Amino acid sequence: MDEPHTTASERAATALRAPRRVVVGVAGSIAAYKVPFVIRLLRQAGHEVKVVATESALRFIGAPALAAVSGQTVSTGVFDDPAAVEHVAVAEWAELVLVAPASADLLARVRAGRADDLLTATILTTEAPVVLAPAMHTQMWLNPATRDNVTVLRERGLTVIDPDSGRLTGRDSGLGRLPEPEQIVSRALAILRQPEHQDDDVASAETTGSLEGRHVVVSAGGTREPIDPVRYLGNRSSGRQGCALAAAAAEQGARVTLVQAHVASELLDALPPGVAVIAAGTASDMLHAVREVARDADAVIMAAAVADYRPLTVAATKIKKQASTVSDHRSGPTMSIELTTNPDILTGLVTDPPRAGQIVVGFAAETGDDDGDVLFHGAVKARRKRAHLLAVNAVGEDLGFGDVPNAVVVLDGQGSEVARGQGSKMDIARLLIGLTADLVNGS
Ligand code: CTP
Repeated sequence: MDEPHTTASERAATALRAPRRVVVGVAGSIAAYKVPFVIRLLRQAGHEVKVVATESALRFIGAPALAAVSGQTVSTGVFDDPAAVEHVAVAEWAELVLVAPASADLLARVRAGRADDLLTATILTTEAPVVLAPAMHTQMWLNPATRDNVTVLRERGLTVIDPDSGRLTGRDSGLGRLPEPEQIVSRALAILRQPEHQDDDVASAETTGSLEGRHVVVSAGGTREPIDPVRYLGNRSSGRQGCALAAAAAEQGARVTLVQAHVASELLDALPPGVAVIAAGTASDMLHAVREVARDADAVIMAAAVADYRPLTVAATKIKKQASTVSDHRSGPTMSIELTTNPDILTGLVTDPPRAGQIVVGFAAETGDDDGDVLFHGAVKARRKRAHLLAVNAVGEDLGFGDVPNAVVVLDGQGSEVARGQGSKMDIARLLIGLTADLVNGS
């Protein structure tokens, strides 16, 4: 009997669903409030989570909250259930130990090989990979003692994720902030995907790499159209979805080129090694960069928010208030900037592809209005743009932009629904990359 036909997206979904057992360790830091999001992302990706919290972690976040979000009781002490020899049981159960946040004290205790609570005892006992996501004040992170602890832990094969820079507790800001949950989970799961940490089924599903030997171009971020030397017209796109797409394509074995407009360096730093990054700040820069790198691409995914208009003229010197305003009795002085249309890169890729037969994927960020809802406008756009796939998502103050869960409906060039997905931007990215791979491979 013939093997049932499985598409790349089904294989990707199977690999994604293969549940892994993750111990999430929580140490005492104000950043512990972010851990429920980490746990939720892991569980949404299908993994089983057991939380081990230190005593001081529970001063920042309650055990009931951690138990509710993880679906399991939370353990703290080695002697919670002495007969069960819990540190051994938990350590053997784990396929990955992820500590988020890891405090300076926890790093020091792990480095010293201490085992004075369940979390450190588990880390000392486990044979699973250990990922530590530190969070602390800048001075603590930069202190030679912590630097030394991090160096030694990395030498021993533990993964220590570099903290982000940004707002810390209170009024101060600097290096030491816990990276966003999506970044932590994506780093941790990347470790589970390494061949030595996979069970055979998952390894074969993923090393098949549905985009092995293919070149995928992804655009990300938001263009900025200059008005004068200090001002620009921009948009709120963070580039997270584009970076997730680049990572998901690399996961499937593709050679990936990311053309990015104003994406934060933390997101670019977190890309998998090997992703080529090209900066293109304006719509015109992006048009040229995308078309150039797409000349040998099997697929181009336009996730960037490209400005539809740019100022007709860019002032060579800073525009002064007095010179640019006219008086208007209704609202006080006003000023106008004349705009001209930017080229539509996506439409150009469809009507005049840099390489024959390449697959073109677009996004439609919609809000819905009196004429119709998000999906109505998405379908109109799909028929207008004629990309092979168009991922339609709702955007607004709390939807779609930034580090928030996403929901998309994927349409074909006739506006018919092909798939739906929701979850983190990485979940959405994997869905779209699976669908793109199916088209690239002709299935
Ligand atoms: N896009 C593009 N070039 C542009 C504008 C948009 O390539 N000048 C691409 C985006 O990267 C995205 C898709 O077109 O993949 C849809 O972008 P969107 O802003 O939703 O659509 P618009 O064509 O700008 O339509 P509107 O703003 O009227 O909704």
